[in-house]
Amino acid sequence: MDRYAVIGNPIAHSKSPRIHAAFAAAEQQALHYEALLAPLDGFVVTVDTFRQQGGRGLNVTVPFKLEAFDYARQHGTLTARAELAGAVNTLRFDGAQVLGDNTDGVGLVHDLQHNLACPLSGKRVLLLGAGGAARGALLPLWQAQPAALWIANRTADKAVHLARLLNQPAVEGCGYPDLDGQHFDVVINASSSSLGAETLPLPAGLFAPDALAYDMMYADTPTAFLLQARSLGASRVADGLGMLLEQAAEAFLLWRGVRPDTAPVRSLLRPTPLWMN
Ligand code: ATR
Repeated sequence: MDRYAVIGNPIAHSKSPRIHAAFAAAEQQALHYEALLAPLDGFVVTVDTFRQQGGRGLNVTVPFKLEAFDYARQHGTLTARAELAGAVNTLRFDGAQVLGDNTDGVGLVHDLQHNLACPLSGKRVLLLGAGGAARGALLPLWQAQPAALWIANRTADKAVHLARLLNQPAVEGCGYPDLDGQHFDVVINASSSSLGAETLPLPAGLFAPDALAYDMMYADTPTAFLLQARSLGASRVADGLGMLLEQAAEAFLLWRGVRPDTAPVRSLLRPTPLWMN
């Protein structure tokens, strides 16, 4: 049976084995998917061993996405979106061939446009944060043709640097104070502020009428960012559970050639909606 796994450290909490087992059952695909704990200094050894044992693909999570990027660059090829993200969250092995991809951004865009019925074309979109999560989302967000794509970060220079990667007049990098007087239709939190339950220095009036606030993080209770967004007048809010499911569906597509329906798995992981939109 073809073997797949999610590799990370820690890994016990990962929902990926449940998600991929459900996808495989729904698509009637015979495969085995497990959680693989790699030592912090043992990513390459763990991947090599997995491949020697016939492993066909890996999902890569914290803290190994940059090492997975280097691994794919050294042993195989990278997709354009992985190249721009500077990080790999999906590896595919075909014999000696290695392909490194990044499905996080496309998963986010799919969740926004299809599940949340929020087309990005012509919209003003704001991305908060300029670390790995923001960088991974950049190209797929831009490809959805927003009218403007702003990136705001605590360290403004990093946002300016990210914006320059796209080199488009409608893409702007800035600090939080520069958001004064600006309005956005979609505001996406890609910073790790919700991890520490911290709020961001967002100005009043940031959310346009009918704006959607999206946190890439997800939890069993509303995240700090979504609570803050609601208090600032965002009409709709969503967390990153949908993004998790959609990036997994994209990885499944890369490995197996079919894109599973995520809706049944979403109901499995979250039987009652967290938010009243
Ligand atoms: P990840 O891979 O999750 O993106 P990262 O690369 O460490 O993690 O990036 C974390 C991001 O969250 C950065 O943009 C960071 O801002 P700085 O570049 O200024 O450090 C942002 N961040 C983390 N905690 C924050 C907070 N309390 N307020 C604002 N931004 C925060």
